[in-house]
Parts: sequence; C-alpha cells; structure tokens
Amino acid sequence: MIRALKSSEVTVHRDVRLRALRESPEAFGQTFDEVDCEPISYWKNQTEAVTALGRNVMFLACEGKDVGGMIYGLRDPQDKNSGRIGGMWVAASLRRQGIGRALLEAVLDWAEGHDLHQVCLWVSIKNTAAINL
Ligand SMILES: CC(C)(COP(=O)(O)OP(=O)(O)OC[C@H]1O[C@@H](n2cnc3c(N)ncnc32)[C@H](O)[C@@H]1OP(=O)(O)O)[C@@H](O)C(=O)NCCC(=O)NCCS
Repeated sequence: MIRALKSSEVTVHRDVRLRALRESPEAFGQTFDEVDCEPISYWKNQTEAVTALGRNVMFLACEGKDVGGMIYGLRDPQDKNSGRIGGMWVAASLRRQGIGRALLEAVLDWAEGHDLHQVCLWVSIKNTAAINL
C-alpha cells in the first residue's frame, strides 16, 4: 500500500530515511553519517517540511506496519509550477516488484493535482535502475 506520511510520524520518517541512506549510500546527496547523530528536533523539522500541506509530500510503501520504500515530492521554492522528486528508495529485498513505480506514480499524481507542470529528479549517471524507472 502506498500512503502519505503524517506530520506526527517523525520516527517513521527518521527510520526509513536512515535505512535508505545506509543501504544505498551512492544514491543520495546526503550521507548516513551526516544525519545519523541528528537530534529528534532535526527530524521533527524535516517531517514538518515534507508534510507541509499543499506544499510537499512524502509517500511510504507499506505492508502493515512495515515500511519498504519512500519518496519525497517537493515544490520548487523558486518556481511555483515546478517540483522535485527526492529520496526515492525501495528496500533491496523488495525491488523489481513495481514498488518504485507505484511510489513515483503517487508523486506524479500529487504533482498533477497541485498544478506542477514539471518535476525534476537528480540522479547519478551510473544509476541505471533509477534512470530506467
Ligand atoms: C530505483 C529504485 C527505487 C527502483 O525501485 P523498484 O521497486 O525496484 O522499481 P520497480 O520494480 O518499480 O521497477 C520499475 C522499472 O524500473 C526499471 N528498473 C528497476 N530496477 C532496475 C534495475 N536494477 N536495472 C534496470 N532497470 C531497473 C525497470 O524499467 C523497471 O520496470 P520492469 O520491472 O517492468 O522492467 C530502487 O532500485 C532503489 O531503491 N535503488 C536504490 C536507491 C536509489 O537509487 N534511488 C534513486 C535515487 S535517484
């Protein structure tokens, strides 16, 4: 099931983001070590930012209480009609089952519903999986 993160789910956000950074260090602009020691106030701020209603969104791929993937949909602060995809990650054991596609589609639907005419994704040139997706 794909669902949006709630603003109260600070530890859910922290846990899945840290798993993503630990498991896929090459995929993101931030490293596990940079944020592992951050206090809970950091994660509260991050969670507020990515759940700011009408502005940003974070979707989770869940099986019951287990979280197997995540993605951010973020508005471009400089251009109200553009957005950014960030943090796209699926647990290694769950890949190639369509979860990444479902997360991406959730963000694209959200973007369409918020009048974003384009969404961009930063991706390493070596990341064939993400580029193909
Ligand atoms: C990229 C990622 C999110 C894809 O998640 P996923 O759940 O495996 O993706 P899906 O099963 O929905 O695959 C959708 C399509 O993406 C492409 N794809 C996915 N994994 C691929 C791989 N290893 N090699 C080539 N193409 C791949 C295929 O076109 C696939 O369609 P198909 O299965 O019909 O051939 C996942 O590999 C991941 O978390 N990687 C590490 C983190 C990362 O790189 N994030 C992106 C940062 S920009």
